[in-house]
Parts: sequence; C-alpha cells; structure tokens
Amino acid sequence: MTDPLSRWRAQAEGAVLLDGFHALKHALRFGAEVPVAVTTDRTAALSLAEELAGDVRGTLDTLLTEVSEQVYASLVPRPHPTGVAALAVRPSREANLRALARTPRTAPVVVLDNPRNLGNAGAVIRLAAGFGAAGVVTTGTLDPWHPTVVRGGAGLHFATAVERLGVGELPAGPLFALDPEGEDIRGTRLPDDAVLAFGSERTGLSPELRARADHLLRLPMRPQVSSYNLATSVAMTLYHWSATGAGAPGDAP
Ligand SMILES: C[S@@+](CC[C@H](N)C(=O)[O-])C[C@H]1O[C@@H](n2cnc3c(N)ncnc32)[C@H](O)[C@@H]1O
Repeated sequence: MTDPLSRWRAQAEGAVLLDGFHALKHALRFGAEVPVAVTTDRTAALSLAEELAGDVRGTLDTLLTEVSEQVYASLVPRPHPTGVAALAVRPSREANLRALARTPRTAPVVVLDNPRNLGNAGAVIRLAAGFGAAGVVTTGTLDPWHPTVVRGGAGLHFATAVERLGVGELPAGPLFALDPEGEDIRGTRLPDDAVLAFGSERTGLSPELRARADHLLRLPMRPQVSSYNLATSVAMTLYHWSATGAGAPGDAP
C-alpha cells in the first residue's frame, strides 16, 4: 500500500489530524508518531523546513509525499496555506494518566473545568506546552483532542499530557482554583506540583471543583471588569508560576 491516499485512509480512524506545516513540525519535535504526511509542494515544504525547522528537515524529507491540490483538499476539512497535512497516533489514555501521575512533579497541571470553547482549549494547550506544564486536564464534555482544539494547539498536544478526567480523578497536588472572588494571586507563590484550575467561560468554577480547591486566587483586575478570558487567565497564572515558583529566583511576596 504505497499510494498516500490509501495510507491516509488506513490510518485515519482515531488518528490526530495535523493541519499545516507548523503543527506537523511541533508534533515531530515532541515525539509524535506520524505514519503519513502529505504536501501539495514538497520543494516549498522542505525549504520552509530549512528556514524554520532544520531539526526536523530530515524527518520531513522522509515523511512527506507530494499529492495534487485535489487530493489534499479531499483529506482536510479546511486547506491550510502551507499545503501540508499529516496524521499522528493519539497517545493512549494510559500514557497520559502515567504522565499526569508522575512524581515529583516539576511543573503544574492546568485544569479547565467544563470548558465550552474549542479555541480556548487549544490556546491553553499551546500555553501549557510553552511553559512546560505537566499537562492539561479538562472536565466535562468537551473533547480536548477535537480537531479544532488540535488546530488551536498548533500540534503542541504532543508536548504535554492532554486528557479528560472527572473532578474526583484530578492528579494529586495542592489545588489552586482561579476565581475573581479569591485572594490576590500576587501574595501567593505557586509550587511546582500545583494543580491550577480555571472555570468555564459561561459559569465559572463548578461547585464540585470549588469544594475540592485548597486555595481560591484572583488575578488583579480593575473594578467594573467582571472577568478575563479563560485562556488569558491561564497565561497570567502560568507566568506568575514561572516568575515566582519554588525554583524561580526572587523573594517570597
Ligand atoms: C470567562 S471566566 C468565567 C466568567 C464567569 N461568568 C464567572 O462567573 O466566573 C473563565 C475563568 O477564567 C478565570 N478568570 C477570569 N478572570 C479572572 C480573575 N480576575 N481572577 C481569577 N480568575 C479569573 C476563572 O477561572 C474563570 O472561571
């Protein structure tokens, strides 16, 4: 089975669609297993790799098969400007649970409590990857591996552990829940084994998550502004951890 279309169809069930050059580049960098990758222009894709991703150029050279625009359009719901797409093997739930349970933890786990917006979830996974967070856990019905979330995460699902769990199954560690009614975050140093929880875009933290929280923290906000966007709240909190966490320089507040 050598033609790319047959290989794609054989792998598609349960696989993760990597949409575009950058998603494929990130996934490869973080060890994703990629059984098939296509491009509408091999020369352009490889010269992009030379320019931006020399570390994976050789792998891309081996992996990428050129297909017509028509074939490419039949494989992806929305053609990407780079004309690149690939399928990756989704890490097993067991592997993610092992990663989330690993101790001692050297970076926090981010929990999104019943998130609704797929773009927010993708942006948070990208943030978690950038800060080296131990994982992103979602509660509720949203699938954190939904293709739209993967697109928003730019292939960085493979750089952290991404899994859906119940509130009762959250990883161990002190749970800091972010809420505009909490204590000012600037007075708290977040430990590396923290579990950082954020509420739903519409309704905030669920009663179950609140009941499980050890601390409630607020991000500074001017009066009359009711809340920040979910992903920006995660960004500020991870930044606060990185700037003031146990391993970071600086005095305790
Ligand atoms: C869009 S907000 C939710 C707004 C929602 N209407 C509510 O009642 O909380 C989504 C989440 O971002 C976090 N968040 C937003 N602004 C915050 C702030 N000023 N301090 C702490 N967390 C905040 C919280 O975790 C919140 O649940």
